[in-house]
Amino acid sequence: MLPKKPGANKISVEENLNELFALDAKVTQASPYILPLETPEALLNFLTKDHKSDTYIWNDSNGNLVGFFSIINPLNEALIEVLNICIDPDSQRQGYGKKIMLFAEKLAREAGKKKIKLVTNIKNTPAITFYKSIGYTIVQEIKNYYSDGETRYMLEKSLSEK
Ligand SMILES: CC(C)(COP(=O)(O)OP(=O)(O)OC[C@H]1O[C@@H](n2cnc3c(N)ncnc32)[C@H](O)[C@@H]1OP(=O)(O)O)[C@@H](O)C(=O)NCCC(=O)NCCS
Repeated sequence: MLPKKPGANKISVEENLNELFALDAKVTQASPYILPLETPEALLNFLTKDHKSDTYIWNDSNGNLVGFFSIINPLNEALIEVLNICIDPDSQRQGYGKKIMLFAEKLAREAGKKKIKLVTNIKNTPAITFYKSIGYTIVQEIKNYYSDGETRYMLEKSLSEK
């Protein structure tokens, strides 16, 4: 069962795969241009095999699940990557995405990292607007990034020393 603590909770993707896949499918249905992961196994592979990421859920103040996200924290690099951020369509535009990204920044600073990067489809205008609103800048445009024929932007945010 998923933890109920408000805010971020690190979880095992394998042990909570059905709940994560249900939320991912709901978000994908509502948002074109995010990478479709068609089966629970595809989601598990993407998060744990294709990428070695840590996955967290975010609960609202009553302990209800509002989203999940994954972070790649490479040992020998000065950055972390937010691989995946997914807010339940019923809970979007309520500030949870921003809270999650602030949590990722805190985690990065604590790990001594200098910046955060992420990748999003160039057609995903809502996500690009979201990232720009919290200080991210487009640094690169990459064709066929996930081998799905789609072009993606890489965005970055430098972390201040504070
Ligand atoms: C993109 C996403 C993570 C944003 O999370 P969120 O919780 O809805 O965003 P927040 O409420 O924290 O928004 C913060 C600010 O970002 C901007 N923003 C967020 N969503 C936006 C949208 N759909 N259109 C325009 N601006 C948006 C706004 O400036 C917003 O502030 P405001 O609501 O006071 O105007 C979320 O909508 C989501 O999960 N989308 C589907 C999956 C996805 O595309 N993930 C990113 C793939 S890389």
